[in-house]
This record gives sequence, structure tokens and C-alpha cells, in this order.
Amino acid sequence: MNNTLVNQPNKETIPEVLPVIPTMDVVVFPNMIVPLLVLDEKIIKGVNHALQESKLIFLLAAKDSSNSSEGAIGTNDLYQVCTIATIMRLIKVPEGGIKILVQGVGKGRARDIVTEGDMLQAQIDMLEVEKNDIDTLLPHIRNIKSVAEKMATSGHSFSPDFHIILSKMQDPEKIADFVLSHLSLTVEQGQQLLEVQSQEELLETIYHYLHQEIEVAEIQEKIRSNAREAMNRAQKEYYLREQLKAIKQELGEDDLEEIEQMLEKLESLPVSQDIKEEVIRQINRLERTAPDSLEATVTRNYLEWIFALPWAKETEDNLDIKHAKQILNDDHYGLKDIKERILDFISVRNLKQDGYAPILCFVGPPGTGKTSLGKSIAKSLGRTYSRISLGGVKDEAEIRGHRRTYVGAMPGRFIQAIRKAESANPLIVIDELDKIGSDFRGDPSAAMLEVLDPQQNNTFYDNYLGVPFDLSKVLFIATANNLDTIPGPLRDRLEVIELSGYTLEEKVNIAKRHLIEKAIHDTGLDIEKFSICDEVIEDIIANFTRESGVRQLERFIRKLCSKEARSLVENNEHVTFTKDNLEDYLGPRPFMDDDVNNRDQIGISNGLAWTSYGGDILQIEAVLMPGTGKLMLTGQLGDVMKESAHAAMSYARSNADRFDIDHALFKKNDLHIHVPAGAIPKDGPSAGITILTAILSALTKQPINAKYAMTGELNLRGEVMRIGGLKEKVLAAKRNNLSYVIAPSKNKTDLKDMEEVTKGINIIWVEHADEVLKRVFEPIKRKKNKKA
Ligand SMILES: Nc1ncnc2c1ncn2[C@@H]1O[C@H](COP(=O)(O)OP(=O)(O)OP(=O)(O)O)[C@@H](O)[C@H]1O
Ligand SMILES: [Mg+2]
Repeated sequence: MNNTLVNQPNKETIPEVLPVIPTMDVVVFPNMIVPLLVLDEKIIKGVNHALQESKLIFLLAAKDSSNSSEGAIGTNDLYQVCTIATIMRLIKVPEGGIKILVQGVGKGRARDIVTEGDMLQAQIDMLEVEKNDIDTLLPHIRNIKSVAEKMATSGHSFSPDFHIILSKMQDPEKIADFVLSHLSLTVEQGQQLLEVQSQEELLETIYHYLHQEIEVAEIQEKIRSNAREAMNRAQKEYYLREQLKAIKQELGEDDLEEIEQMLEKLESLPVSQDIKEEVIRQINRLERTAPDSLEATVTRNYLEWIFALPWAKETEDNLDIKHAKQILNDDHYGLKDIKERILDFISVRNLKQDGYAPILCFVGPPGTGKTSLGKSIAKSLGRTYSRISLGGVKDEAEIRGHRRTYVGAMPGRFIQAIRKAESANPLIVIDELDKIGSDFRGDPSAAMLEVLDPQQNNTFYDNYLGVPFDLSKVLFIATANNLDTIPGPLRDRLEVIELSGYTLEEKVNIAKRHLIEKAIHDTGLDIEKFSICDEVIEDIIANFTRESGVRQLERFIRKLCSKEARSLVENNEHVTFTKDNLEDYLGPRPFMDDDVNNRDQIGISNGLAWTSYGGDILQIEAVLMPGTGKLMLTGQLGDVMKESAHAAMSYARSNADRFDIDHALFKKNDLHIHVPAGAIPKDGPSAGITILTAILSALTKQPINAKYAMTGELNLRGEVMRIGGLKEKVLAAKRNNLSYVIAPSKNKTDLKDMEEVTKGINIIWVEHADEVLKRVFEPIKRKKNKKA
């Protein structure tokens, strides 16, 4: 044994019996120096005894120190194999007991532990560790050194010099001692090491423990670094957020304040608890997201919408009938029936505030005042006004809104209109209801059903809002040019009010009372110093425009106003417009000598058509040419119109004798019927008698009286049947300066009490085709006697 201390005893000098010191928590190895505190009297006695003799004592480790105190350790609690140590120093502790410094010198096995003369003693047998030759040990030494090196590089070393000192050591025994003094071992592990039989086994076990040590250290380090990392990230984020907050505060865009403000606003928002909860959810979401992220922008937009909507802001209706009458009359000339209907509606409101509100739908040709009437009604009721145009809307999302997941998502048009109106009970004009379309993006008219249904629209669900909004207090007024294209279920919800075209007199009055004043006002002229005389207005209506409404008329009047303005600004001169100088300002009269047939001609008859733009003249041409008895039809005719052409032809053939027509004529000739303006599609049965007159004229070579216009469906027996849109047709005939309108007797009631429409034109009511022919072929030659 290579002793490190000077007074190391020899093996031979070790006595057989030695005082025992039981050690707790520690296994002392040979060559290790350890301080021990001794309190037990019996043991102190032993120590004193040893000091007087060989200075040697026997250190026995206690098996399990946890459940016994030092004084009560029995001999069975002690391990058998333990260390012989020499006492190097002794200090008395003031509180009683002693502190000794011991160094292990060898190993021994306790044969017998006894208490003799108040002293714990043991008989011992020395134990020797089997030494191996260096070649067997070398691999183990290398292993140990390499682990130590690994510990050093990874920073888990016991001490900074551990690896360096170890690397210089060669002696296996010293290497073992050195490493052992650094390992932190449990008593059991220490004891196991102490009891190994050979150096090889010792080194191997040490290597094993070192390895364990490094693994534990690595895991520890990993845990520590994870914790550190989490800590660092949190700290960094916290630090950055604090900075951001400071910057935002400086810039005055503190978003904490924003969120607080929102929560505050929400308190006073008059919405249901469900809606509040949804809004709070969104506010929390905003708080969680980075303020400049896309998501935050989407959420913020949404919240902005929620706070901007007039959830419970309502205007009070002005239900004063006199006041309403006044406003309606001030804004619009004529329209007696419609104004009456509106006043009825206001009266009902007077009696029952929250009663059933019909959805009025104004149907009529363009420029007849449908949209502007809606605006007047809002004015007379004192409601805010908003307009939605459905022309060309094909996407259901336009009505119901886009889901918020879309970037750039928006609420539907109704919610937008509500926001614009800043009131939960505005008057909303739904314009161009008949122009609503549908495609793969859904059917907007289906969504309209919900909007316009008083049973459903109190919880109208807009996809963007994600919460219901009450539309039941809104007053809807729809406008359309043509009822036919409005889907049935939608039309069913509407109370249709028809507006027809205006007569010349009405137009003159509208111009005098409204349009001129409006145009003067809009162009900034002086109403005292500028006027347009009736004669000029009539000229414009008759020769510059050809429309049912007054939109073109309004445009021409504005044009005149701007000419006056130009003259005032340029030359400081007023202009006096007369029939003679009108063309200088408005250009040539487009309808002066228009293409309406005003000469009596063979094969050309004037029909009357009704379109969503009002009534119009529809000329029908027929020519006969050599051929094989074919009937040609051109001019984009619809199926119904083609059929009525065939019916007219059949009627002509079956009555050929009566009309003095040679039957051979039909076989040897082709008949071509054409309806000019071939680009415009035409349909309907009402041209029956017109086609018949054209055919008969072509066959008999008799001219048709051009003063007549006609409309009426024809059946094979020659009866003239009911048609639609008579009022518009009569107005169209008047616009085109025709003198007579031939119409079915069955339509007589259509023009009841309409003197202003029938004034200036003769209506001839007919029941049979013969009556028509008698008129237009005057003086038409017929074979007398042949008539049945
Ligand atoms: N009876 C009337 N009295 C006074 N002004 C009128 C009258 N009818 C129409 N107008 C005026 O004519 C112009 C066109 O009317 P408006 O825009 O309401 O037509 P509309 O019926 O809605 O046509 P569209 O079907 O093309 O939408 C407006 O300036 C309106 O004030
Ligand atoms: Mg309109």
C-alpha cells in the first residue's frame, strides 16, 4: 500500500482488536481523509483509547441511517467489511463530543463486535485487494480517462482541474482513490465499491458510476437549459412588449386602451347577452393576437362594424298626414293613386305603430319617379333613407354577407345600408329588384325572401356579423321595371303599385313644376331671371325625346340650363330659348321625321308593343314574292309571336274568298313577314291583328291607313282578344302622332277614368278582325254578297 501520510502504520502493526466508530451517510475508503463528529460516550472512550495506543480505529458504515439515531445503532445495523483508519487530529467541541480527522489505511472484516469496558470494539481480519497486472487494468483506466475528458468538454466536470489531474495519473490505485473521492455515492453504492475483490472490478465499477454521473449531469443540464430557454423567451417577449407599449403610448396608439375602450363601449351597447358574449370573444381574440397581424385587422374590422351599427337607435315617425301630403305633392306631380296609397299606409301607422307593414313595390317604365318617390316617403315619415341597387347582383353573399374567414369580407348590402342610414328603422329602397340574377354563387333572390318576410327578418342573420340583426322595423320599398322577371315567391311578398308612363301634358307639368326648378337650382342659376317657355318644353318632349318617363326630358332641361350658364359666364348674356333656336343648343331633333310609317303603304301596318321601357310602335312588314307557298318570319320573333303569325296566315287563307283573293296566289308565292329593328327580341300574341292587316295588304295590294295603330290578339275565328299594357300603348301612339288606336273591346275597362290618356287620340274598340280591316283598308273593295 502506498501511504500518503507519514505515520501510516504497517499491516503487521495493526492490532487484532480495534475500537469501532460507526459512520453514518458515508463510506470511508482507504487513503481518504474524512472529518467525523463523535457524540456517543462509548465511542469517545474508544477514540481516546486508540489515541493512547496505535491511533487506529475501525470505521463501520451503518446500513440505513434513516430510521435510527447514532446512539441506538445495534451491531446488526453495521456492515461487516469496512475501513481501518488512523486518527490524524482531535478537537473537542464546546457543546460536548469531539471532532476527529481520520484517514483510511486499509480494509478489514469485523469478525466480532462487542462492548468491552464501556467501549465498542471489534476483532478484525485484514482484507487485501487482489492486484491485477497493468495490462488488464489499462483498458479500464483509458475508459475512465475518456469519460473524464468528455465530462470536461461538456462542462460537467466535478472541478475544473479534475480532468487534467486525472490525465497525468498512471497508478491504478491512485486513480481509483482520486475518482472515488469525487463521486457522490450512496452508502450502499460506497459499500459495494469497498467490498470489491479486485482492482479490475473496482475500476470497472468506478467507470460505471462515472458514466452514470455524466448521464445524470446531461439530463440535469437539459432540464436546466429548457427552463432557461423558456425563461429567456418569456423575458425577451415581455421586454419587447413593454417597449412596444411604450412606443405605442408615445405615438398615442395604445391598444390596451383600445381594448379597454371596446369593453367599455360594449357595456352600453344595447344588444342581447348572446351578442355581447360573441363580441367579448372577439375582443379577447384581438387581445391575444399580435396587433399588426392580418387576423387582428380582420377582428378589429369586425368589432368596428358591431360598434358602428345602430342596434337600438331609431327615429320617431312623423305620422302627420297633412305634412306627408304636402311633401309628396311638393316632390312629385300627378301620381294620384300612388300618393293615396302611401297616405293610407301612414294612416294605418297612426292607429297601430307596430302593425303589419306591407312591402310596397313600384313597377313601371324608367324615369317615372319610382326611386325618387321612395325618397319622398322617407322624407315625409321623417325616416333616414338608404338605397340598395340589386341590378346585376348574382352572389348570395351580396345579400347575406361574406363569412369572416375571407380577407376583405364585408357584411351584406342590407347591413351596410343600415349602417349608412344610422338608424335601425330606416326606409330602404330596394332598387331594380327585377334585375336580380343568380349563378353558381347562390341565388340572391332566395336570400331576399328572408329579408322581406316580416316573420323572419327580425332575426336576419348576416354571415359576416355572425349574430342576428332585427330588420323588422325597416320600411322596405322595392322598385322594378318589369314584374315578370321577379321570382314568384318574392313577388308574393310585395304589394305591387304600377306607375305608367306620363302623357305629354303630365310631362309638361312635371317639367314646369319640378324639373326646371331642380335643374336651375343644381346649375346655380337665378330662378328669377331664367325660364323656359311651355312651347319649348313641348317641343323637347315631342321631338327630342321619346320615352315613358321624364329622364331624357330632365337631361335636356339640364342641358339648356348649362347653356344659359355658359352664356352668362362667357358673355354675361341671358339666352332666350325658342322653338327656332333650340336645335342650335340641343342638336337636330332626332324624332322629327322619324321612321314611323306616316304614309299609307302596301304591306306595312303599325302595331303597338309594350316593353318594360313603356309602350312603343312596332311596324310589321309583309311582302309577297314568287315561290312555293312558304311563310318566312324574320326580326327575332319569339315563339308566341311566330305562332300568331301562322294563325293570321291561316285566317287569311281560310277567308280568301271573302277578301277576293285567288287561292292560287298562296301556292305560287312565298310570303315574308318582317318586324324591323331585328336586333330587338319581340314576343307576345298582341300583334295578331297587325300581322293580319299586313298580310292582307300584301295579298290584295291595298295600302293600309297609316293613321291607325293597332293591338289585339287574333284567334282562328277572327275574334280579337284581350291584351296587356294598353295605357302605355296608347301613350306611345300619341307620342308618335297617330290619330287612331284600334284595341280589343275587352280592354275597355283599362282606360276607364283616364281622360288625360285618351285625350287627343281616338280609341276604336273592336271585337272582330273584320272591324279592323274595315277601318284600315278604307276604302277597301270587298266582294259584297260574300260576307256570311
Ligand atoms: N311625377 C314626377 N314629378 C316630379 N318629378 C318626377 C316625377 N316622376 C319622375 N320625376 C323625376 O324624374 C327623375 C327620374 O326618376 P327616378 O329616378 O325616380 O325614376 P325611376 O322610376 O326610378 O326609373 P328607373 O326605373 O330607371 O330606376 C327624377 O329626377 C325624378 O324626380
Ligand atoms: Mg330607379
